Amino acid sequence: MITTCIFDAYGTLLDVTAAARQAASEPGQDALAAHWPQLAEVWRRKQLEYSWLRSVAGTHVDFWQVTQDGLDYALEAAGLDDPNLRERLLALYWELGAYAEVPAMLTALKDAGYATGILSNGSPAMLEGAVQSAGIAPLLDAVLSVETVGVFKPHPSVYDLVGNRFATTPDQVLFVSSNGWDAAHAGAYGFHTVWVNRAGLPMDRLPGKPQHVIPDLTSIPDLVRSLP
Ligand code: LAC
Repeated sequence: MITTCIFDAYGTLLDVTAAARQAASEPGQDALAAHWPQLAEVWRRKQLEYSWLRSVAGTHVDFWQVTQDGLDYALEAAGLDDPNLRERLLALYWELGAYAEVPAMLTALKDAGYATGILSNGSPAMLEGAVQSAGIAPLLDAVLSVETVGVFKPHPSVYDLVGNRFATTPDQVLFVSSNGWDAAHAGAYGFHTVWVNRAGLPMDRLPGKPQHVIPDLTSIPDLVRSLP
């Protein structure tokens, strides 16, 4: 029986494209306005690549550092050499909005008696800032950061943090991520898994396969109730 619903943060509960979209709409950002979707995509891809490369190489730094490094790469690739824009994008990353359906979805899970939490690459300070600005802190029983183990997802020791905190076995956990690779590895670990495939992407070719694929988070409360 599922007792605990665990969510990835960046891209799953929090809209990671919001920082570039917001900055592009501000006065004087004509250059960014033309390029912001590509900048957001390269920033995100490099942030994740650097997390995996540093995990493989044993050169861990926290997610705030790889977020800045990824942004610096993306800004240079886009020819946007503007220190003020860099600072603005980083400030916006601390206050990314939650997707519109998130508060009602988490409220429904709490009302139905499920434990809820975040398991994220984010540093504790980043996650604290994000859940406060998104207004979802009261709807979460725990916000778990990989910094406790000092290695990024999908290292199995990260997924161990859920059982350590909630005293659950993996089959009591529903793990929800918009990152196909995260859902795949969480499934291989033994969690029930949902991949939130907002962009209609192909499934990652990795050892685990997500059990459920949904377009947004709206159906999570019904889905978890239907699981054995
Ligand atoms: C996280 C990244 C993977 O929040 O989005 O863990």
